[in-house]
Amino acid sequence: MRKRTLFLILGLLAAGLLLVVGIPFNWAQQSNFPQVKEFRIERSMPPQAVACIECHKATQPGVFADWAKSRHANANITCLDCHLAQPGDRDIAKGHEQYYNRSDLPYGEAKYKVPIASIVTPKDCSRCHPDEAKQYARSKHANTIEIMWKLDPWLNKGMNSDNERKTGCFNCHGTVIKIDENGDIDPNTWPNAGVGRLNVDGSKGACTSCHTRHRFSVAEARMPEACDQCHLGPDHPQIEIYEESKHGTLYHAYKHEYNFNAAGGTWTAGIDYRAPTCAACHMSGSGKVLTSHDVTERLSWETQAPLTVRPENFKPFPSNSDWQTERNKMKAICQQCHGNSWIDDFYDGFDKAVMEYNEVYFKPVKKKMDELYEKGLVDKTKYFDEHLELQYYEIWHHEGRRARMGAMMMAPDYAWWHGFYEVKNRFNAFMEEANHLLKTGEKAYRWDPYPNATGSTKRPVEIFPE
Ligand code: HEC
Ligand code: HEC
Ligand code: HEC
Ligand code: HEC
Ligand code: HEC
Ligand code: HEC
Ligand code: HEC
Ligand code: HEC
Repeated sequence: MRKRTLFLILGLLAAGLLLVVGIPFNWAQQSNFPQVKEFRIERSMPPQAVACIECHKATQPGVFADWAKSRHANANITCLDCHLAQPGDRDIAKGHEQYYNRSDLPYGEAKYKVPIASIVTPKDCSRCHPDEAKQYARSKHANTIEIMWKLDPWLNKGMNSDNERKTGCFNCHGTVIKIDENGDIDPNTWPNAGVGRLNVDGSKGACTSCHTRHRFSVAEARMPEACDQCHLGPDHPQIEIYEESKHGTLYHAYKHEYNFNAAGGTWTAGIDYRAPTCAACHMSGSGKVLTSHDVTERLSWETQAPLTVRPENFKPFPSNSDWQTERNKMKAICQQCHGNSWIDDFYDGFDKAVMEYNEVYFKPVKKKMDELYEKGLVDKTKYFDEHLELQYYEIWHHEGRRARMGAMMMAPDYAWWHGFYEVKNRFNAFMEEANHLLKTGEKAYRWDPYPNATGSTKRPVEIFPE
């Protein structure tokens, strides 16, 4: 009995030893092989498309992998569908033809050669996604270059340099893409994925600002991270506000349960997500409200403006709807998760914040500023060359926006400490300085102009034809 148990134990030990020695041996052998994800082309596609895929798989595996994982690849939408040069295209990548003479590259043969365009625009996407492209084209996103030039002192008074604009402003707002005399894309205008970039085919925007290439994912666009590259910072801190709100807290706590990949038109409040993301409130369909690529829908105020106005009264780019209709759409989104009194009471606080900002703070400051200009105590020809002009700018552009925006998206710290608290301080400082000048008749001290104030003040003719 005892002997048999001993043999059994010895046998088991030996087997165990083999396993212990055997498995690491296999692992060691495996790790010598790179892990390559297979991609077999099992669908019919033109040989020119196979060439793009196979050659780019070798030269730019990142581009290839993103495409291979996309819904486009699934649906047999190939590189040709987006990049094949269309009649009249001016952004043809001329240098690209050389790769078809390269025997060291897969499919580097002349017989696969086709002309390709580097830029893929909303017009290109519109062949298959006409509704999204149409809605997008009428949005403030798409038209922001026009809006900027109608409003902005940095541009119109040439207060910063062209490169400061390229690396700052235009990364978010978009460039006017230009083709230089050699037929190449002007590097001062490219690469760019700003929301309102003006493409050489005349279409406006870059769909990649929310659906980055080459995944073109709907899931990505539904996440707050799709918006936070632009919607942040001292003058429009929407992502910080969201992070502070209960909705943002819930997003972080439960996002692993969210189903971001639900098919279009089926992303459902309470089932696919517990609390809304930016897209859920501003873009995605919910209940009876349809998905829209025009982000001014659902808004009842323009809180980025100096004086808060209704979207239909926003002079540089009036909306073609009325604010009650749009507010009701937003309320219908909230109603998927909240009762009416919760929602109405929220809007009550938001509306009061807007009215207090307008009446108590902004209008008196504006009135005082006009008086100073009128009496010649502050000089109107240049901007930001007097302390009072800077104070005036910051009270509406920074602090006053934060106060209104904190209230509009449920972030108490932004509404108060970064918002109205700072507005109050600024208001008093502004008034003290302004009243002193008015009492003494002294002219405001003028700074040296801002350095590097060299940017062009000429409006782009592509948008403002002469
Ligand atoms: C034989 C190899 C090869 C083939 C086939 C090929 N490409 Fe390329 N492509 C390249 C290389 C190499 C580059 C340049 C990469 C770099 O700049 O480092 C390039 C660049 C590009 C660019 C960027 C061009 C620019 O100037 O901005 C695009 C877009 C592109 N290819 C699309 C395509 C499409 C679409 C197809 C199929 C119609 C295709 N390619 C076929 C090798 C190839
Ligand atoms: C759904 C449309 C679409 C498809 C399909 C597509 N592309 Fe693109 N591609 C784009 C867009 C959009 C850009 C970014 C340029 C822009 O903003 O206009 C881009 C950029 C590129 C670039 C330049 C990227 C860089 O960072 O230098 C290359 C190279 C390229 N594509 C190759 C390919 C290849 C190869 C395929 C097929 C495997 C492919 N594309 C399929 C839309 C597409
Ligand atoms: C030749 C037609 C065609 C072109 C051109 C095209 N698409 Fe698509 N796209 C499709 C089809 C088909 C689907 C649906 C695939 C599916 O659901 O399986 C799709 C799906 C999508 C989706 C949803 C992806 C998801 O995760 O559910 C997005 C976003 C998208 N396309 C964006 C774009 C953008 C942006 C462009 C231009 C840069 C573009 N498409 C160009 C045909 C096209
Ligand atoms: C980080 C991205 C980013 C940068 C950089 C940026 N902006 Fe903006 N800008 C935005 C966003 C986002 C808004 C929308 C704010 C809102 O509506 O809440 C905006 C709003 C504006 C508006 C108001 C438009 C309106 O409808 O009233 C103007 C004008 C403007 N920006 C001009 C500029 C200029 C000029 C620069 C550079 C000096 C610049 N921006 C830099 C993202 C940016
Ligand atoms: C690449 C930069 C960029 C990205 C990404 C971006 N936006 Fe914007 N957004 C802007 C700019 C710039 C403006 C200001 C346009 C103007 O008024 O001239 C703006 C304005 C808006 C407005 C205000 C419209 C109005 O009428 O005042 C809303 C709402 C908005 N964006 C929502 C979103 C949402 C939601 C996302 C993400 C799904 C997003 N944006 C992604 C740059 C961006
Ligand atoms: C400001 C961010 C933003 C920009 C820019 C943007 N999209 Fe979208 N897109 C979204 C969001 C968010 C959704 C998801 C809506 C939903 O929840 O169904 C979406 C969904 C889509 C879908 C899937 C629709 C469906 O019903 O399956 C397509 C296709 C699409 N977008 C195409 C485009 C095209 C084409 C452009 C450029 C003209 C573009 N998008 C620009 C944010 C954006
Ligand atoms: C709970 C829903 C909700 C979420 C989530 C949400 N917003 Fe908003 N947003 C609102 C409401 C409500 C307003 C004010 C609407 C009005 O004017 O009546 C607003 C206004 C805005 C505005 C307009 C500012 C202007 O020009 O007046 C922008 C820009 C904006 N949101 C961007 C974002 C971004 C970016 C995110 C994500 C980081 C986000 N929102 C998340 C509900 C939401
Ligand atoms: C997908 C569901 C969903 C949608 C849509 C939604 N909310 Fe919420 N909201 C929640 C949840 C869940 C909470 C957390 C409630 C709690 O504290 O128990 C919340 C909290 C809030 C709070 C309380 C904030 C706090 O600090 O306690 C306010 C106010 C609010 N939501 C307003 C809105 C408004 C206004 C809209 C529409 C513009 C909206 N919500 C859309 C799910 C949603």
